[in-house]
Amino acid sequence: MKNIVLTGFMGTGKTEVGKVLAKKLGLIFMDIDQLIEKEQGMPVTRIFEERGEKAFREIETEAVRKVSGMKNLVISTGGGAVLREENIINLKSSGILICLSASPEVVFRRIGSNKNRPLLQVPAPFQKIKELMELRRPYYEKSDIIIETDGMTPLLVADEVISVLPHLNDAKAGEKNGKC
Ligand code: S3P
Repeated sequence: MKNIVLTGFMGTGKTEVGKVLAKKLGLIFMDIDQLIEKEQGMPVTRIFEERGEKAFREIETEAVRKVSGMKNLVISTGGGAVLREENIINLKSSGILICLSASPEVVFRRIGSNKNRPLLQVPAPFQKIKELMELRRPYYEKSDIIIETDGMTPLLVADEVISVLPHLNDAKAGEKNGKC
């Protein structure tokens, strides 16, 4: 089975939804940030602190390349993975990209005071969330579909993903056959 790739901003529930989805579909759950932490032997926050964002993005690109070559996965990506075209190409070749979206207010409520989001350790995190979301919107829109998650539980979001999968699979098969 093709991989299911969850994209989207920090705090949109990619990890939680990914776990539920994998269980429901009998697939393996793979979280790119967790993979990076395991391979690097340190948390993402420390990679940012000690090596900087640029180095993190290199490591992330390598991790995306690696998981894109595997099958039967639900992949949860970090919120910035879509910023590199190379990552989008690799992820799209491996499966269907589903972007989870949430309002800045909901994201702030979920992770505004969370210490393990290095990009949000600033004096005005809500402002930063709004800015980053706006800047990244065009990148998230490269996904095959966007699912709004405000007010939804991970279980409900997972069910919605499952309900759209057949349509997305058909569309992708059509693209391959030159029908779209
Ligand atoms: C990032 C999101 C984080 C993590 C890193 C950078 C981003 O993942 O990869 O802190 O640039 O949006 P989550 O989206 O799982 O929080």
